[in-house]
Amino acid sequence: MRQKRVLVTGGAGFLGSHLCEKLLAFGYDVLCLDNFFTGNKRNIYHLLDKPNFELIRHDVTLPIYLEVDEIFNFACPASPVYYQKDPIQTTKVNVLGSINMLGLAKRVKAKILQASTSEIYGDPEEHPQKETYWGRVNPIGPRSCYDEGKRCAETLFFDYYKQNKVNIRVIRIFNTYGPRMYSEDGRVVSNFIVQALRDEDITIYGAGSQTRSFCYVDDLIEGALRMMNGPDNFIGPVNLGNTVEVTISELAEKIIAMTGSQSKIVYMPLPENDPIRRKPDISLAIEKLGWRPTVSLEAGIEKTIAYFKKLETEK
Ligand SMILES: NC(=O)c1ccc[n+]([C@@H]2O[C@H](COP(=O)([O-])OP(=O)(O)OC[C@H]3O[C@@H](n4cnc5c(N)ncnc54)[C@H](O)[C@@H]3O)[C@@H](O)[C@H]2O)c1
Repeated sequence: MRQKRVLVTGGAGFLGSHLCEKLLAFGYDVLCLDNFFTGNKRNIYHLLDKPNFELIRHDVTLPIYLEVDEIFNFACPASPVYYQKDPIQTTKVNVLGSINMLGLAKRVKAKILQASTSEIYGDPEEHPQKETYWGRVNPIGPRSCYDEGKRCAETLFFDYYKQNKVNIRVIRIFNTYGPRMYSEDGRVVSNFIVQALRDEDITIYGAGSQTRSFCYVDDLIEGALRMMNGPDNFIGPVNLGNTVEVTISELAEKIIAMTGSQSKIVYMPLPENDPIRRKPDISLAIEKLGWRPTVSLEAGIEKTIAYFKKLETEK
């Protein structure tokens, strides 16, 4: 029997590259598709000479024909700095990209998983967020291209499922961090670590009392794989994230302590529509997938610091 062939769109990005690695370790044929908008060849250099790994430079907003068994649709810039650079393109990646990938899945009868996001809940009135919560999203704000784009992508996934019987899965990813995050993309964990390693001021937007819960990348990838390989009668959406809440100030202090940095904390105004609290309810993932995060914040931060330390010394 031939080996399962798996397409990972956004495969050269932070999450995509970890996913490609894991799929190769299972012995699958992996097609990594990326246009390198926020992805980096450095993330996948170590995979390029593997016989089961193929790299395709392509933009998901354009159709492509490939013979595959499974598709992980991860292509989309995930950090506000990048997705707000070209908001029309961000909406296109989510809407046209999803249509192209769902069309492909339909033609070749592939199973397809969408990397959706906690941002579809917007600035929530409900806490923690359950999958049944419909969200509170500004349709015309600076984050809308991403939030509404991802919401529309979910709509498309469920309509292809209902109308065309495409075998879908939808995961809603909450803040995930780890090695291979891009140091300049403004995400809080990478920002703080890089600032701490350089002994620069650590910038907190707002008072620092806003909370987030951070999931380590290995936990997230495990959840995505369980969802893809789970039963066809559980298609999601399912929340995947860590439930341990920390304030942004606590995170900054932890990173300063763990890096032994001389950095000082400085406070800046909170950007528009930035949610005050964000925490997943993962009871559905526990019940249906037997999944829960296992990596502590300290252990995950330590590995991430080691990654950025190496990057800084290579400069
Ligand atoms: N990291 C998180 O905390 C998080 C949270 C929620 C959802 N997600 C979702 O997970 C996915 C991956 O996120 P990430 O953190 O790895 O971000 P990332 O920016 O590192 O990766 C996205 C990848 O998609 C590629 N890409 C962008 N536009 C493309 C296009 N038009 N065609 C082909 N490739 C394109 C980029 O070059 C990059 O390699 C995204 O869909 C994101 O929305 C991530």
